[in-house]
Amino acid sequence: MSKFSTNVGLAAQIIQEGGIVAFPTETVYGLGANALDEDAVSKIFDIKKRPANNPLIVHISQESDLDKVTRSIPIKAKILINHFWPGPLTLILPKKNNVPSITSANLDTIAVRIPNHPIALKLINKSGVPIAAPSANSSGKPSPTTAEHVQNDLADKVDLILDGGECDVGLESTVLDLTVEPPVIWRPGAVTKEQIEKLIGNVEVKETIQNNIPKSPGLLHKHYSPNSPLFIFEPEEIITEAKKYLKENKKVAILTTKENIDIYPQNADILSLGHRSSLQEIAHNLYDALIETDNLKVDVILSESFPEKGIGMAIMDRLKRASENK
Ligand code: TXA
Ligand code: MG
Repeated sequence: MSKFSTNVGLAAQIIQEGGIVAFPTETVYGLGANALDEDAVSKIFDIKKRPANNPLIVHISQESDLDKVTRSIPIKAKILINHFWPGPLTLILPKKNNVPSITSANLDTIAVRIPNHPIALKLINKSGVPIAAPSANSSGKPSPTTAEHVQNDLADKVDLILDGGECDVGLESTVLDLTVEPPVIWRPGAVTKEQIEKLIGNVEVKETIQNNIPKSPGLLHKHYSPNSPLFIFEPEEIITEAKKYLKENKKVAILTTKENIDIYPQNADILSLGHRSSLQEIAHNLYDALIETDNLKVDVILSESFPEKGIGMAIMDRLKRASENK
């Protein structure tokens, strides 16, 4: 049964009553529950089969609500908030005790952002509570960028799916930890390292295991993975590899760009991510293409690589985490 709706009032009521609502943001769809309600939040972990050591992001609709979830707001946070909120930047800040420990996976810090999407903002506003929301996909799979993606993955498990069409950005928010000095980007996103450094100076981009201590636990797990193995290659290698697999009667998907569509064996499933000149366009289409390879039931996925600057850093982060050859 379809659970699509555009009734934000009903969705807010469900949140208030401890239910689960999938809703659109500018990045990806979120799986929302009242962040202050332990039972409601535990449903999110069940539905996604999410490991309990992977903390959630709390979504608020106005800056003044920050003190519902954080103990203090450092000056660097204020500068970034002024510049980027509402928008795809999640800040890690000191957590307030009234936020149940399940929401932050027992960490003393909390991830928070104001999403830049009218439906999300209206939902948070009407609910009157901060909304904890991971991406609305089964743990480890590519994140949903349309209501249909959510429907196909989780429809029987959520109370309602608010339909807001396609997400603008298409990749999850940048996660920036401001509880350490210098600040650390644990997950690259549409707000880039370059943009952040212009405002607050040096930040580091870190891998997630340091001295064997998981700092941003969610990033430890293999992630964003379609069902079939994915390999990242240069175009010439893709041609060779594709021919090899096709000869073995394998079904091959190739993730490419408008510029290169014609160079590959045409009996492969060729999925264009957009123009190479627009990394925004590539980011917007990436998850939809990965999910499409699942629908096509291909045996192997061969993807081009992209320059790791600007949002390209986030694109390559997701592709590498999905891939077999990092
Ligand atoms: O764009 C987004 O961020 C989407 C939309 C729905 O807002 N949400 C999202 O949530 O991507 P999720 O749960 O899929 O990813 C949250 C990431 C995880 O990698 C998690 O480990 C990290 O943020 N995280 C959350 N709280 C943290 C904390 N206190 N310290 C370090 N990392 C944290
Ligand atoms: Mg996720």
